[in-house]
Amino acid sequence: MTVNPVPRRPSSAAAPGKVILFGEHAVVYGRPAIAVPVAQVQATATVAAASAAGLEIRAIDLKRTFPLDQAPANDPLAAAIRVTLEHWQSPAPPAVLTISSTIPVASGMGSGTAVSIAIIRALSSYLGAVPDDELVSNLAYEVERLYHGTPSGIDNTVVTWNRPVYFSRDRSVQTLQIKTPFDLLIADTGVPSPTKMTVAEVRARWQNQPSHYEELFERIGQVTKAARVAIESGQVDQLGPLMTRNQLLLEQLGVSSPELESLAQAGLAAGADGAKLSGGGRGGNLIVLARPEARAAVRQALLQAGAPTVISTVVM
Ligand code: MEV
Repeated sequence: MTVNPVPRRPSSAAAPGKVILFGEHAVVYGRPAIAVPVAQVQATATVAAASAAGLEIRAIDLKRTFPLDQAPANDPLAAAIRVTLEHWQSPAPPAVLTISSTIPVASGMGSGTAVSIAIIRALSSYLGAVPDDELVSNLAYEVERLYHGTPSGIDNTVVTWNRPVYFSRDRSVQTLQIKTPFDLLIADTGVPSPTKMTVAEVRARWQNQPSHYEELFERIGQVTKAARVAIESGQVDQLGPLMTRNQLLLEQLGVSSPELESLAQAGLAAGADGAKLSGGGRGGNLIVLARPEARAAVRQALLQAGAPTVISTVVM
């Protein structure tokens, strides 16, 4: 497919953060998972014409400006630009592509994915093309594969569709109806979450003891299926215990950490209904379900237990 060569008008696109409510890691092995966008944090990309030849990348948060043709081979921003240009069979336009993001990095909130998706949308639109969601998600998945080895595809799916999703690798995307909206607290451990590493470690353990790990994945899948029923029927009171059960299974997979577990204990002791890590684990964010009457105390307890930030979001 070719793109419209002129005129080039400035283009912008934003993409949200995400949290995985249920099923991370097991989703890599074909079990379902549930993820929701988090609109409070966003990545934004803007493309505007420039007089110099070639494409310049301005990464505001990294305080770096560099030409695309001098980007290191493993630069993820350049990778998102390259997959987009290759798809539209376009040379790099003379333009500046500016990227900024409020999504915490390495926190399990999909910051890299959101940056890729904002770039893919803004650059496609600058080139005069209108990609549908499926294409955007597929291009973002290509970038994920360069950086995360064996991604399931849930991150690019939820961030592209910007809706709660029930995701299974072998099925088309299913959006999830949230019958009764509920609030989540997202507490940062302050420790980076090395998703690529935890995914690789789980794979190595699964290869050593396939039946044990298949059993854990299966149990996580059952928790996710039960959570789907609870979410779609508005039985929010069932979600807390399911989150805590999922957390225990993630501990058995070996992807939790003392920081995540001490935040979870603090939240539960202050009245939360459930808590679990979200994303790759080992660090990153803990998600905590708390009823309105307990929320202020739980938030305070998470901060006192060492969370540098706690974000509130409504799942709807
Ligand atoms: C990362 O957000 C979720 C994992 O399940 C990895 C993946 O699904 O690609 C840990």
